[in-house]
Amino acid sequence: MADSRRGSGTPPRVLALGATSAIAEATLRLLAERGASFFLVGRNPAKVAAVRDDLLTRGAAEARTGIVDLDQAGEHPALLAEAVAALGGIDVALVAHGVLGDQAAAEKDYAVAEAVLRTNFLSAVSLVTWLANYFEEERRGTIAVISSVAGDRGRKSNYVYGASKGGLNIFLDGVRNRVDRAGVQVLTIKPGFVATPMTAHLPRNALFAPPARVARDIVRAIRTRKDVVYTPAFWGAILLVLRCIPRRIFKKMNL
Ligand SMILES: NC(=O)c1ccc[n+]([C@@H]2O[C@H](COP(=O)([O-])OP(=O)(O)OC[C@H]3O[C@@H](n4cnc5c(N)ncnc54)[C@H](OP(=O)(O)O)[C@@H]3O)[C@@H](O)[C@H]2O)c1
Repeated sequence: MADSRRGSGTPPRVLALGATSAIAEATLRLLAERGASFFLVGRNPAKVAAVRDDLLTRGAAEARTGIVDLDQAGEHPALLAEAVAALGGIDVALVAHGVLGDQAAAEKDYAVAEAVLRTNFLSAVSLVTWLANYFEEERRGTIAVISSVAGDRGRKSNYVYGASKGGLNIFLDGVRNRVDRAGVQVLTIKPGFVATPMTAHLPRNALFAPPARVARDIVRAIRTRKDVVYTPAFWGAILLVLRCIPRRIFKKMNL
């Protein structure tokens, strides 16, 4: 984590957007054990307070909170400025909130698709735009965003969610190429299946990873200043194969 902040070895000041996500919570726990300070953002006050209390018992130096529905992009600038002021600066921003949505409903009703795109794509674009300018001026820092392997190729079973994450991946690629020269890390996190509330309705199989495993990969990827991390790592190989399947065959597959 040392590279993300001014002095090497100093515990980072972490802004977590969607702090109540199971993947975010597991990641924040690892950072709390290293004495990090937090500004935790979520839309459910009771859940955010529970995450804050848990992190404080695990060694967090400080944990402030902000209660915001992150779909409300108009509230982002004031929220982010408040986080910077509360922590005296940010070293790592983790953007974790997201929704899976209902693919079948989205195929029939644009309003359903729009809601998925607003939460997963537009709100992240708004947050990352502000954060990229903040860190670019600071000439340091890390923006880590949880995307998904689903953004690597459009599949018939979840292309609305996939499009929200695919668009996010392209956006993050571009921001990275802009702010890298200012010393800012932009990390695109691509988990496969993770056993969290988001996937609670899906039958579990051997491909599902626990959030703690994904969290370890995220913390390592931040520390080693990676651009993109597939987590668990075997998803990189799976997606390499999936991306190579010719379109004329892929469109006949039940994926
Ligand atoms: N689980 C997987 O298999 C998987 C795979 C690939 C990528 N991901 C991505 O990983 C990220 C975290 O998901 P998760 O698996 O940890 O699921 P999760 O535990 O269900 O977390 C989703 C979080 O997003 C928050 N959220 C949704 N809309 C929001 C909004 N408008 N404003 C504020 N917060 C909002 C939810 O808040 P509430 O608690 O208030 O509802 C919840 O904390 C998501 O971006 C997801 O797309 C997950």
